[in-house]
Amino acid sequence: GISQQAGGIAAPALAANAQPAGKLTIIYASQTGNAKGVAEALQAKASANGVAVALYNAADYKVKQLKKETHVLLVASTNGEGEAPDDAIEFHKQLKAGKAGKLEGLNYGVIGLGDSSYEFYCQTGKDFDEYLSKAGAKPLLGRLDADVDYDAVCENWSEEAVALVKEALKSDAANEVAPVVPLTHGATSLYNKKHPFTAELLTNQAITGRDSDRDVRHFEISLEGSDLTYQPGDALGVWFSNDEQLVDALLAQTGVDASSEVIVDEQSLTIREALIHHYELTQGYASFVQAYSELTDAAKLRALVDDKAALREYCANHQILDIAREQQGQLTAEQLQASLRRLTPRLYSIASAQSEVEEEVHLTVGVVRFDQDGEARNGGASSYLADRLEEGGKVRVFVEHNDNFRLPANDDTPVIMVGPGTGIAPFRAFLQERDARDASGKNWLFFGNPHFTQDFLYQLEWQRYVKSGLLNKISLAFSRDQQEKVYVQHKLREQGGEVYAWLEQGAHFYVCGDANKMAKDVHQALIELVAEHGNKSREQAEDYVDALRAAKRYQRDVY
Ligand code: 2AM
Repeated sequence: GISQQAGGIAAPALAANAQPAGKLTIIYASQTGNAKGVAEALQAKASANGVAVALYNAADYKVKQLKKETHVLLVASTNGEGEAPDDAIEFHKQLKAGKAGKLEGLNYGVIGLGDSSYEFYCQTGKDFDEYLSKAGAKPLLGRLDADVDYDAVCENWSEEAVALVKEALKSDAANEVAPVVPLTHGATSLYNKKHPFTAELLTNQAITGRDSDRDVRHFEISLEGSDLTYQPGDALGVWFSNDEQLVDALLAQTGVDASSEVIVDEQSLTIREALIHHYELTQGYASFVQAYSELTDAAKLRALVDDKAALREYCANHQILDIAREQQGQLTAEQLQASLRRLTPRLYSIASAQSEVEEEVHLTVGVVRFDQDGEARNGGASSYLADRLEEGGKVRVFVEHNDNFRLPANDDTPVIMVGPGTGIAPFRAFLQERDARDASGKNWLFFGNPHFTQDFLYQLEWQRYVKSGLLNKISLAFSRDQQEKVYVQHKLREQGGEVYAWLEQGAHFYVCGDANKMAKDVHQALIELVAEHGNKSREQAEDYVDALRAAKRYQRDVY
């Protein structure tokens, strides 16, 4: 039988005289922690079912080891344009190159996490599936491609996967092992994504000028009483509700009676309440375009569905109401509900260090505001925080740890930080932490925004740090203060010799902010400056930058 172990450890404990255990191995490839969270839930489910299980980060798993496995489940998120998460790049590369050898004895399953509005949706999961199958491994069940509201589908898939693994291992005497109790990572707080902490908003302050094109806010939130802790580099998850006026406009547009009852999580609610609290209305997405085009026979939307690039562009600046306005239609409450995806919390890179602010957490948030045919449109969480929540009001939050964006363990190590726009946020946390620790390593900040007078976020704080000697260098790129655009990558190139010298001294290099353009341009600038000042060929410079990344000295938090 299965012996229940209270407070056990994460190593599979074999019963006396057992054969080598039939065990399940779970491997995750995670960028911001979502895949890791799904893998941990999978591990807990397997343990609860008496399946011996080992959990690995792909960064710590040798591809050659796969030969010895019988059952492997992979959970992989996708980074940027179809790339593997930073610390799973090596695992991905080796598997692709066939370094695992023949895997005929292996049964596997894959969850890919992604965002269906991107062209390379769930690409890393698809890749793993392809490589394993090429190596002769057999799928235990079909791959799951999970969109941004992945919770429920992952739970169903995990249920099925664990049942299949359990069944497969059943005949094996070695199945008689103690269940493994998952490690808890020293977490003391009861609060997480599913059970967020209801926190007080202490401060809501505009930090861009009156004449700025952007509305960037500095928020301070109290974590008092939550036991929630975070490290510089972590993110705060923020749950929010939708603007009631937006909900009413959508109900009117689709001809749905606000008081119609629908079921959400086994509870009966009016459709109006459901839309306010549970469904995603402020981002456009492909599944709604598709469903709505079919329900209303909208030719324009139907055409869009077949053109991924155009669809993505369209969804980026059309909210659900705007999509619905493309075609008059009469929907039932259930049809509208079924077309929508569940609301997901927004993640913001934390802009404070607990060594400085203790039980508070600070955020730097660009409020999403745009115009649609003369009507104002706002982002979901950003306008909730900025416009609909009073200081003293309550907001549900949780901490999302990010081990892929961390200060050097050694305080003597120099640090280069590139954070234009709201990408500045984690570097405020980094500098607070380096200050509190009295870290002797040098600090260099690259910041950019449109105008010096309007958009110099946290200007006084940086000036203070320059004065105190904490901030050794600050390089600024105010893009629209002169005829020619000046961006952070231009400043990097300009200072290439010194940047390279810092890297040679062991500096860590961090980038936070826009993934689509900025982070790519900065990446190229980095390679170029290494080539130029290191006297290297393009290829050698790329290897140098790859090595920085592999050594975790080049880390990115981009979105
Ligand atoms: P712009 O809006 O004047 O073009 C933060 O958003 C800052 O990043 C702004 O100054 C913005 O400039 C700038 N920016 C825009 N595109 C960029 C790119 N490809 N690389 C770096 N910075 C960019």
